[in-house]
Amino acid sequence: MTHPLEDLRDAALSEIAAVPNEQALDAVRIRYLGRNGSISAWGERMKTLSKEEKPVVGKSLNQARAAVTAALEEAGKKLRAASEAGALADLDLSLPGTAGELGALHPLTQMLDRAIGLFYRMGFALAEGPDLEDEWHCFDALNTAPDHPARNEADTFYLHDGRLLRTHTSTVQIRTMEAAPPPIRVIAPGAAFRRDEVDATHSAQFHQIEGLYVDSGVSVADLKGTLEFFLRELFGSDTAIRFRPHYFPFTEPSFEIDVKSKALKSGEKWIEVAGCGMVHPAVLEEVSRARGDDAYDPEKWTGFAFGLGMDRLAMILFDIPDIRLFAQNDLRFLRQFAS
Ligand code: PHE
Repeated sequence: MTHPLEDLRDAALSEIAAVPNEQALDAVRIRYLGRNGSISAWGERMKTLSKEEKPVVGKSLNQARAAVTAALEEAGKKLRAASEAGALADLDLSLPGTAGELGALHPLTQMLDRAIGLFYRMGFALAEGPDLEDEWHCFDALNTAPDHPARNEADTFYLHDGRLLRTHTSTVQIRTMEAAPPPIRVIAPGAAFRRDEVDATHSAQFHQIEGLYVDSGVSVADLKGTLEFFLRELFGSDTAIRFRPHYFPFTEPSFEIDVKSKALKSGEKWIEVAGCGMVHPAVLEEVSRARGDDAYDPEKWTGFAFGLGMDRLAMILFDIPDIRLFAQNDLRFLRQFAS
């Protein structure tokens, strides 16, 4: 006569041999070996057996458990292999894949990266300052008279507390000199804000690349050489460049720079791209006064500064007809600059 445990084991083994999938296999495991499983129940029953019976039944119980556990494992492996093979059977590796959508840099960012790269080659470091400024950094320290029209509320965005959105990045000239003594050689790209009537070439927010170089013996020749190199690298070696006398309160002499190149869509037309000049001694003096030292003694140090219109440069470079396109987020426009 076989022991009931052996019957249970055989029943379990034949059920395992017949299960169609992993869930069914799990059900079999629970039915026999689970906490209330019929084989497990013999573990409880052991306590009630006599001394003589215990080792005999114990041995059968262990054998039954081991046999069923091994069979469960084996069957589980087979079922998993089969379901993986089934999944792969549906996979057609010859079908074209689904491409992920790649982003691209905004044309202004591309323009900025190129500009930074060129100025790095000439030894300029990056500097920055806040968009929200005080009047001193934006005007007074830059030798701008109290009644200068740029300060007018019609031109400048003022906050109620007297602060303002900087109308140019020249504020960073002052912040850089306040923070460190000469020599200084930095560019400061960033946003500027003016209450301009918005049209194809004017936006209330636009972007500039400010430059400042202060050292001993810096001359107009250095200013010209630096900007001519930059503009010819950007627009091509046959670009014509013109320095036109101009007025800025914080530089003397001052110039506006125009470029013209047959290679550009603008062709034979001069286009203004920057303001620049030699840093006014009054600016160096005011910075020294604010620092409380004579680090920027104008007898010892000279410098040049420039402000390039970044939107303007990008419009020329990429032949973009309207400054508003930069901020409209129209993918049909932006995708043209994704490469
Ligand atoms: N800040 C001037 C502007 O916005 C440009 C400029 C910068 C001129 C530096 C001279 C020196 O028009």
